[in-house]
Amino acid sequence: MIDVQDLTKQYAGRLAVDGLTFHIEPGQIVGFLGPNGAGKSTTMRILSGYMPPTRGRATVNGYDVFHQSLEVRRSIGYMPETAPLYTEMRVKEYLRFRAELKGLSGRALSQRLAEVMDLCMIADVRRRLIGHLSKGYRQRVALADALLHKPPLLILDEPTNGLDPMQIRQVREILLGLKPTHTILLSTHILQEVEAVCDRVLMIHQGRLLAHDTPEMLTRRLRAATLVQIEVQAADKALLAKLEALPNIRKATLDHEDGGWKKISLRVEARQDVREAVMELATAQQWKVREIYRQMPTLEDVFVELAASDLAR
Ligand SMILES: Nc1ncnc2c1ncn2[C@@H]1O[C@H](COP(=O)(O)OP(=O)(O)O)[C@@H](O)[C@H]1O
Ligand SMILES: [Mg+2]
Repeated sequence: MIDVQDLTKQYAGRLAVDGLTFHIEPGQIVGFLGPNGAGKSTTMRILSGYMPPTRGRATVNGYDVFHQSLEVRRSIGYMPETAPLYTEMRVKEYLRFRAELKGLSGRALSQRLAEVMDLCMIADVRRRLIGHLSKGYRQRVALADALLHKPPLLILDEPTNGLDPMQIRQVREILLGLKPTHTILLSTHILQEVEAVCDRVLMIHQGRLLAHDTPEMLTRRLRAATLVQIEVQAADKALLAKLEALPNIRKATLDHEDGGWKKISLRVEARQDVREAVMELATAQQWKVREIYRQMPTLEDVFVELAASDLAR
């Protein structure tokens, strides 16, 4: 669906995208993840046929983004970072105008308008001026625009940027609803977003690809220590030392003490689970435990680790 080979973009004096190579299969939601300035928007503009690469090549839906940019644009739904919406137009009027540009007419057009407005939950504002809409609604109008011509592939640049939690949830629902029939590449710098909807993650940093994998595999690859937190009641002076003496525990730290209950953090070797050993020790020592909790590594941890090793290259 998307095939990218050594894609590179040099702006005047700045290397924005640096030799990206990746492949995206149909039917996936792929999160394009990286901090501000990583090169996400640049890559998406190139993939959408709106800007040529400096080097390398990319095909989208079988079309070359440089030599067949018109075909590329017709076969995808692209939602740019700042959607150029006409603020003085009404929602439905705007979408009708866009649909006509995309070659729809007559009954098919009216039907499709109703469908995308329904899908993007904007039917209630169809007569409002775009300039008077909240950011959440505007984003959804831009998404409706991208969907009008029923493209099999959506390239969405920060579709939840600037939205409140409710609006983010609504966009998430829409994306999950589109999943059975669409391939979606969406960029974001919100990692929880990716964990919630994406099958695959492309992580980029300073224009370079850091990783391309499922969210689960990425967190499993992590070398960094994981954390286990326990809450225990014990007068034992050697409490921390006894915990640290268990295998795979690097360090035990007393975080907090309240009415005899001690909150302790255990830094644990990557991929090790020490909860059973801790419970056995507590039973043997007659400590009272009221909570034991393993904090799983997040994509944020993965990103920080990968970016640090990339910088160290
Ligand atoms: N039109 C442009 N001209 C020059 N530099 C640009 C332009 N657009 C983006 N850049 C630079 O290229 C880098 C990548 O930007 P961008 O692709 O927008 O990253 P992201 O979307 O991940 O935040 C940044 O350093 C940015 O400042
Ligand atoms: Mg961007």
